[in-house]
Amino acid sequence: MKNIIIITGASSGIGQEFALQIDTAFSNIDEIWLIARREERLAEVAKVMEHATRLIPMDVTDEYAMDDLEMLLEEEQVVVRMLINAAGFGLMGEFDDIPLEEQTDMLLTNCEALTKLTHITLPYMTRGSRIIQMASAAAFLPQPGFAIYAATKSYVLSFSRALNRELAYRGIYVTAVCPGPVNTEFFEVAEQYGKTPMVKKLTMITSEKCVKAALRASYYKKSMVVPGISMKTSLLATKLLPHELVLSITSLWK
Ligand SMILES: NC(=O)c1ccc[n+]([C@@H]2O[C@H](COP(=O)([O-])OP(=O)(O)OC[C@H]3O[C@@H](n4cnc5c(N)ncnc54)[C@H](OP(=O)(O)O)[C@@H]3O)[C@@H](O)[C@H]2O)c1
Repeated sequence: MKNIIIITGASSGIGQEFALQIDTAFSNIDEIWLIARREERLAEVAKVMEHATRLIPMDVTDEYAMDDLEMLLEEEQVVVRMLINAAGFGLMGEFDDIPLEEQTDMLLTNCEALTKLTHITLPYMTRGSRIIQMASAAAFLPQPGFAIYAATKSYVLSFSRALNRELAYRGIYVTAVCPGPVNTEFFEVAEQYGKTPMVKKLTMITSEKCVKAALRASYYKKSMVVPGISMKTSLLATKLLPHELVLSITSLWK
């Protein structure tokens, strides 16, 4: 039996940082599987890693590629010690200004693919296995100007918290990670139809800090982690204040 860790979105940003931190911090892992579309970027990440890696260049929204991955898991006789779903993207802008196909692609990537990957890897998990799902602080509240993205992340947070409870009897722990802005290539994609409000940019953290908090939370079996003091404060505000009031305040940022 081969002990493996699977990381999606490993070609960039937070997923790449997960690969690098896990590579130095984890032992007793035979292979780290790195998933994203850009193979050359995955190869660059793998080149600086000590662990054996398997590069799986695939579009997570491609159902045939997902079927192939499911077969590979079966063939390789693996134990999945950890699954990290970091593949995802967001598009800022008004709902009716963004082409429908790109909006629905956000649903497929952030929600459907994450759900399928979680489902196909679960049979290969054992007591002590971990799942880390990249949600976002955008999950806490509807976000005009980032509407579909925020809704996808609410899905990820809700699904992950429920799954964590369902899997507790098997000793498998799910952690939803909810950072605010993280300094990655995310914004190159996100700002095609809209701009990030300046106030949000002021709260930006590094991917190193985000991933460190995520791995620590997963180690301690936390169902959710909010890296950074600004987003912890935001979460508190959404718990204490009426949501319509918070929405009126955040609408002033545009
Ligand atoms: N950065 C932030 O401010 C922030 C804040 C909160 C949450 N998040 C979440 O954190 C996760 C990682 O984002 P990031 O900041 O690291 O952004 P990033 O640097 O743009 O990385 C996104 C990763 O997802 C992969 N990806 C996207 N669509 C894919 C697809 N269809 N198939 C396979 N891989 C795909 C990309 O690889 P390829 O392009 O090579 O396929 C890339 O590796 C996302 O879920 C994002 O929503 C980010």
